[in-house]
Amino acid sequence: MCPPTHFRVTYSINPWMDPAKPVDSALALFQWEDLRDRYRALGHTVEILDPVPGLPDMVFAANGATVVDDRVLGARFACEERTAEAPAHLAWYQANFAEVQEPRHINEGEGDFAVTTSWILAGQGFRSSLLSHSEAQEYFGRPVISLELTNPHYYHLDTALSVLDGDQDEVMYYAEAFSPGSRAVLRRLFPDALLATAQDAAALGLNAVSDGLHVLLPAGAKGLLGPLRARGYEPVGVDLSELHKAGGSVKCCTNELRSASG
Ligand code: ARG
Repeated sequence: MCPPTHFRVTYSINPWMDPAKPVDSALALFQWEDLRDRYRALGHTVEILDPVPGLPDMVFAANGATVVDDRVLGARFACEERTAEAPAHLAWYQANFAEVQEPRHINEGEGDFAVTTSWILAGQGFRSSLLSHSEAQEYFGRPVISLELTNPHYYHLDTALSVLDGDQDEVMYYAEAFSPGSRAVLRRLFPDALLATAQDAAALGLNAVSDGLHVLLPAGAKGLLGPLRARGYEPVGVDLSELHKAGGSVKCCTNELRSASG
């Protein structure tokens, strides 16, 4: 995670961002600390990346790399406003991991890569390039399933789909964010998926992090709580309203460091 020390909305690269709407920096920091403390209270280790002045979206640590089996694929940002974040994230991974690869193609880390037990799901349409999907498949040696995002509000895969994986290959997603062909692929791979409503998607309810039991998700996504409980999960609502103004929430603020041992 990377603290929102320099978080502001000074440009607009997705439909949620309006530089005219003020961000309460103190509240953003308070909300972010609350998320961090909840992870710690659940027994998870949280590593902290130093924020860089002038990079307001760096708080969205999920975009900085993808880590699978202790192997790191760095990020390369689509929008000019964020390109300088890539080396800052990369330096942290190089200092902490033995195997780190710089990407050849544009990919925004876990913003567009979601890891299930069997596959890596990969989004494209707004940010990550289709070529980055085969690059990830080659590097991680896991099958990558390409999915096309079609609604600009759900510009990253992690705004439209979340891996739950309490058992195996369990996800929740907002079908309307995907192209017809990608919806059919999702139905085929995940016939029992939890389907989110437009309301819960708009609350960024799919921007969630699951440890297989606890699911941390934006507090506003009330419609997901019952269905998650019915499946045996313990949903934990978190208020990240200030980060929401930049189009991000729980998952965007969290990059998962997946080790080979699980
Ligand atoms: N303002 C950021 C952007 O548009 C938000 C990124 C959110 N991160 C995520 N993983 N979806 O790039």
